[in-house]
Amino acid sequence: MGKYYEKKNWPSFPDDMAADLIEWSLSSERAIPASKKEPFSMLTAPWSLRQWVVENIPIDLSDEWVVTIQRFDTDYAHFHTDTIRKWSYNCLLHGEGAVTRWKKDMEGDVVETVKYDANRWYFHNSAVPHSVSEIPKQRTAVTIYKIEPEVVGTHLATAFKFLEAHSKDPYFYYV
Ligand SMILES: [Fe+2]
Repeated sequence: MGKYYEKKNWPSFPDDMAADLIEWSLSSERAIPASKKEPFSMLTAPWSLRQWVVENIPIDLSDEWVVTIQRFDTDYAHFHTDTIRKWSYNCLLHGEGAVTRWKKDMEGDVVETVKYDANRWYFHNSAVPHSVSEIPKQRTAVTIYKIEPEVVGTHLATAFKFLEAHSKDPYFYYV
């Protein structure tokens, strides 16, 4: 997948569900506890979210697929590549206005820029360096991805602990 992002023509969340997910995303616990300074987290998620995705999104979900909510608690995420995934399908919940930028490599120039619309699905390439700026303090999104254990990015955070917990129980982060 050479592209950086792509808008998908998939269903948006119904308004009441989107409102519930926004509330959840701004307050819910991390799937793996971390220090308060860690600005990125995968959160616990409601099982009803996975059910909705199964029923509405044209992906054949297996145990290796994660469906959860991610949150930035910062106003700027430096250029990085993701760990345990090369790409994801994301649906922004809160934090519209934030700008995502990509570079071909860390030393290079910015080659692509996008402001993701809320409650729309996008393919997001996270195997090449990307940053997120102009975040209004918090930014949350539903994220769907297939776990790739061998992918080691520039920022590990709690990814390997997530991987370990996932290998024992692929649905450990649902409440
Ligand atoms: Fe990322």
